Amino acid sequence: MVQNWNPTSWRQKPISQVPDYPEQAALEAAEAQLATFPPLVFAGEARRLKSSLAKVAEGKGFLLQGGDCAEAFAEHGADTIRDFFRAFLQMAVVLTFGAQQPVVKVGRIAGQFAKPRSSGIEKQGDVELPSYRGDIINGIEFTPEARVPNPERQIMAYRQSAATLNLLRAFAMGGYANLENVHQWMLGFVKDSPQAERYRKLADRISETMDFMRAIGINAESNPSLRETDFFTSHEALLLGYEQALTRVDSTSGDWYATSGHMIWIGDRTRQPDHAHVEYCRGIKNPLGLKCGPSLSADGLLELIDILNPANEAGRLTLICRFGHDKVAEHLPRLIRAVEREGKKVVWSCDPMHGNTITLNSYKTRPFERILSEVESFFQIHRAEGTHPGGIHIEMTGKDVTECTGGARAVSGADLADRYHTHCDPRLNADQALELAFLLAERMKGGRDEKKLAVNG
Ligand code: TRP
Ligand code: MN
Repeated sequence: MVQNWNPTSWRQKPISQVPDYPEQAALEAAEAQLATFPPLVFAGEARRLKSSLAKVAEGKGFLLQGGDCAEAFAEHGADTIRDFFRAFLQMAVVLTFGAQQPVVKVGRIAGQFAKPRSSGIEKQGDVELPSYRGDIINGIEFTPEARVPNPERQIMAYRQSAATLNLLRAFAMGGYANLENVHQWMLGFVKDSPQAERYRKLADRISETMDFMRAIGINAESNPSLRETDFFTSHEALLLGYEQALTRVDSTSGDWYATSGHMIWIGDRTRQPDHAHVEYCRGIKNPLGLKCGPSLSADGLLELIDILNPANEAGRLTLICRFGHDKVAEHLPRLIRAVEREGKKVVWSCDPMHGNTITLNSYKTRPFERILSEVESFFQIHRAEGTHPGGIHIEMTGKDVTECTGGARAVSGADLADRYHTHCDPRLNADQALELAFLLAERMKGGRDEKKLAVNG
């Protein structure tokens, strides 16, 4: 049992990024109602994810984590979920094939609603209003009414998460993710892109292998591993009242679990060791992510690791590094060395999105070449340090948006206005996500060949 912890102990700690709810009684009523609702995920699933991540920490697997920056109430259609899922499956297949290692699949979905903001106030012209903090808190419209935090939104976010998760489970287990469908995951607009040809070739090879296996008696009907996939959910545990209401004791182990998603992470703005977000997360048994930005010192990281993973359990903690393409070489090696020196077991994951945001033609965007550059550096640095580049954390969508510039189809600064739909940060479109997956696969294949050479040579 975790010492001096309970699901409410975070309330005694300093906290930042809290919305200003006008009516305390209404907030309490919403939280009380949430506390009566069924869990969204089951503790056994979180444990299963943790053991998959433990293998990644040991160098035997790769974590693919991705999805929206912020989910939106206005975009809760079956098509949005399906398009995301098939873009994600395409990436997963490319990575599995390239790395020849299991890919642990974790969506930023079915709970990714609350957003930390650099300023509590947004100014447009002469008008100042409270900032948008995600659909679980307030509305994105720039009006005084929309920006008032409304606790009813927590109930709506819960219900949307439940419905999204229901469809994802059906897709993952009900046949959509069957490897026999590897050709069908090609999206309409990806079909005529430069990535499409590469994907088609890879899908052909997989289909051929499946045909061969079928001939020798191994097929998807008799082998669930060909027909199903483990898909997990994750989000930033920012709105702690919501998280608390969904924190439940697992009857089989007696441990506390966050049941709002399988994995939750702590943001770069809320990772102060003696503050509320770290306090909440240390007491639950789910796998945790910790965002690591340029301001995190090596000692600060080790202190957080001791608080969040005192037993040094592999799979418990994923370090999601988000430095920026021009800062990763300065910051990543010092953190890796400290973690290695202390023998801490972690998964190293690269978030090449959040350190590479710029403003262009008054749009928040991310140049694709900087995203690739941070990923390249991440791999090179891990190879040089002898550690495992274990995962990637991206903001992506299955839609043909124009939010990040660049990519093989060259979204330009002027194109951003065409289909810029994000509620928060710019996301990779399906085409760019697939291009990134091919690059990752190549790098992982490179690492594999190097290891083989080392063994044989
Ligand atoms: N079950 C395996 C896995 O999840 C193989 C698999 C089935 C798969 N469907 C998939 C892999 C879709 C990637 C994408 O890894
Ligand atoms: Mn974001």
